[in-house]
Amino acid sequence: MQLVLPYALTAEVTHRCPLHCPYCSNPIELHRRENELSTNEWLSVLKQAADLGVAQVHFTGGEPLLRQDLELLVRCAREAELYVNLITSGIGLTEERIRQLSDAGLDSIQLSVQAASANLADSIAGFQAHELKRQAAQRIRSSGLPLHMNVVLHRANLHQVEEMIELCLEWGAQRLELANAQYYGWALRNVQQLLPRREQLQEAEAAYSRALERFGNQIELLWILPDYYEDFPKPCMNGWGKLSLTVAPDGRVLPCTASSEIRSLSFENVKERDLAWIWNHSPSFNAFRGYDWMPEPCHSCERREVDYGGCRCQAFLLTGDARAADPVCKWSPHRFAITDRIGSIDDHAPIYTYRGR
Ligand code: SF4
Ligand code: FES
Repeated sequence: MQLVLPYALTAEVTHRCPLHCPYCSNPIELHRRENELSTNEWLSVLKQAADLGVAQVHFTGGEPLLRQDLELLVRCAREAELYVNLITSGIGLTEERIRQLSDAGLDSIQLSVQAASANLADSIAGFQAHELKRQAAQRIRSSGLPLHMNVVLHRANLHQVEEMIELCLEWGAQRLELANAQYYGWALRNVQQLLPRREQLQEAEAAYSRALERFGNQIELLWILPDYYEDFPKPCMNGWGKLSLTVAPDGRVLPCTASSEIRSLSFENVKERDLAWIWNHSPSFNAFRGYDWMPEPCHSCERREVDYGGCRCQAFLLTGDARAADPVCKWSPHRFAITDRIGSIDDHAPIYTYRGR
């Protein structure tokens, strides 16, 4: 099989985070600070990624600003000619830090927001973050860096879709990702609290279409589908081990950010192997490349080249078998794992299990 080179590196520099979001897709077991890669180890990862052909790096976490060496990592990535994006909650983004990050060559920032109104946003984040995020947005705009924003959509905030788009415009965002929640890691613990009803989703989609008409020429809007309500799965990661790789805080190299929860696989670590070997030869990256690994109904399905059998992480989390057809698929024998969840949504105000409490 002809291997393509990875295009993007997701550098999860820490799992530490000031927020407690119930929809966090990071694994249940987080890495502690003492297990994080050192500055020199990250510098080596960035150089190896550039040598391997990676074109862009996304620094994320947790909250990457909690790493005091972030500016150094950004500078190194930029010197290696990578496009450098920072994904942040904005907490800790002082004027001094934004100036240093900008001087280091940062290309863009993606700032998260939880809802349009401060009360709701703070109750979702489990932390009084909304006003700090407004200030962070202002600082990003003043620095001249492009401001991209994202919001995770779920039952508690879907009714605010239009207001959230207006808010992000007011804060100066050039791009907004409206990402319906995906249920991996911690989020799966809260799935019954987060899942919307189909009617609520349809109203939100109508609100999104109205906003697209009103504001589409002022802000780039993206709607990430809620796959539980689809008939077919998403082509997750555009195929396993095809376009991108993730380095977790402890140095393990993952084909996608949620894949550390697939217990049937073991993942190599940059402390023991170089990135190129891991990309090309590791059993984990090769586990679901091509089509030979697929059981039925995927193996003989005409859509296998469209969706690659869906998401391996979702298949493992819902069926215990990472090779299974994604239960989102209407032809999957495990479809009941989705329909049972959708069928048992209740209308009570959600009581979340907050991350980190
Ligand atoms: Fe995709 Fe497999 Fe369903 Fe076919 S059977 S549509 S390949 S998930
Ligand atoms: Fe890991 Fe889909 S989230 S393969």
